[in-house]
Amino acid sequence: MSLESLRGAGRPLIEGVHAREVLDSRGNPTVAVTVATSFGAVEEAMVPSGASTGAFEAVELRDDDGARYQGKGVRKAVAAVNDILGPALEGLDVTNQREVDEKLIALDGSPNKAALGANALLGVSIATARAAAASLNVSLFRFLGGPTASTLPVPMMNVINGGKHAQGGLQFQECMIVPLGAPSVSEAVRYGSETFHALGRLLHDAGQPTLVGDEGGYAPRLDTLDQALQLLCKAIEAAGYKVGTEIAIALDPAATEFFQDGKYYPGAKDKAVTADQMVAVYKDVVARYPVVSIEDGLSEDDWDGWSKLTAALGDKTQIVGDDLFVTNAKRLQRGIDGGIANAILIKPNQIGTLTETLDVVELAHQAGYRCVLSHRSGETGDTTIADLAVATGAGQIKTGSLSRSDRIEKYNRLMAIEEELGEAARYPGRDAFAALSRV
Ligand code: PGA
Ligand code: ZN
Repeated sequence: MSLESLRGAGRPLIEGVHAREVLDSRGNPTVAVTVATSFGAVEEAMVPSGASTGAFEAVELRDDDGARYQGKGVRKAVAAVNDILGPALEGLDVTNQREVDEKLIALDGSPNKAALGANALLGVSIATARAAAASLNVSLFRFLGGPTASTLPVPMMNVINGGKHAQGGLQFQECMIVPLGAPSVSEAVRYGSETFHALGRLLHDAGQPTLVGDEGGYAPRLDTLDQALQLLCKAIEAAGYKVGTEIAIALDPAATEFFQDGKYYPGAKDKAVTADQMVAVYKDVVARYPVVSIEDGLSEDDWDGWSKLTAALGDKTQIVGDDLFVTNAKRLQRGIDGGIANAILIKPNQIGTLTETLDVVELAHQAGYRCVLSHRSGETGDTTIADLAVATGAGQIKTGSLSRSDRIEKYNRLMAIEEELGEAARYPGRDAFAALSRV
């Protein structure tokens, strides 16, 4: 017997791959992929979908067939898995994620996964990891993160939804609470839930609607960021917590969405604002409120503006690139080289495979950039990002508000991981936002 076949003996192999069309939390089609292995594991992954997508993201393949789901069907991506990607993987070692993902990338062959679809590739990639972990009878975070993975993430909880995720009028997409003073992730979830409900009561008493937006946060009628921040502070206090020390605040303005022809429109439609003025707004906000993190404060290609924003606030505030970096190593490298931002949002479907996602996390960590694992506004019950947050030791996660199962399932998964880790579990709290190593 050759050394190769000795090594191969007893390895779990991919036996079958199957995709189908399912719906996400907005009721739009998405891809579900099941991978079966020779060890009897059968595991499914479901792919999320964004609304405020970055222009530089990998391409999500849609059918464009107006007769079905307003053109949003994903039968082409499903066929790509069932006819091309799946058959090519049969017989491969399911635990060799890099080999699997490289094969997927080669079969697609395009620079941005436009040929077979990042939704097709990511579904297969994640189902492969899930099937590998199940074959080895270990948790996904353990399989991906190794024997020492034990850091739970501090959540940034999006309790006020604006921008493209809600109809309340607030242009700033996400106003989040960050329970960094909690002693554990389970307690962080409790702090968050209690504050979410306190906010609901405040809104109700003010005659505001308590309907929720795409990420399960309230969507009140607000005109200014200041109103939203004041509400958050009141809700934190009403829930019995100390503003700043126990629960801080994070923002994702998703500024690309209100950027046009070189100008920003964060308020009234006729009021244009420059990047310099936007930076001044954030400076003022950080001085007056305990804002520990600002994501996409400026538009996805406004590198000059980002440079000024980082220079103005980057030594004490986390500056996160989402649409700016799109979980893409090349764009992140440009940021690292230019000293732009100090953290990156990690969304696996922005790049299309798990291996590339993990490679970007490593690049970020090597450069002293923090990583925030993230959901999309269109989600499913898939909880992979919770395991990924622990596996990478990222220390932070963004997975929505404290309502709606598509958000809650990730929190429930984090609490299950914490219980599984027992004494070994570590919740970084404030350390997750401590001075960045590169500054
Ligand atoms: P998206 O929003 O999933 O709609 O892109 C999330 C975010 O901007 O962080
Ligand atoms: Zn964002």
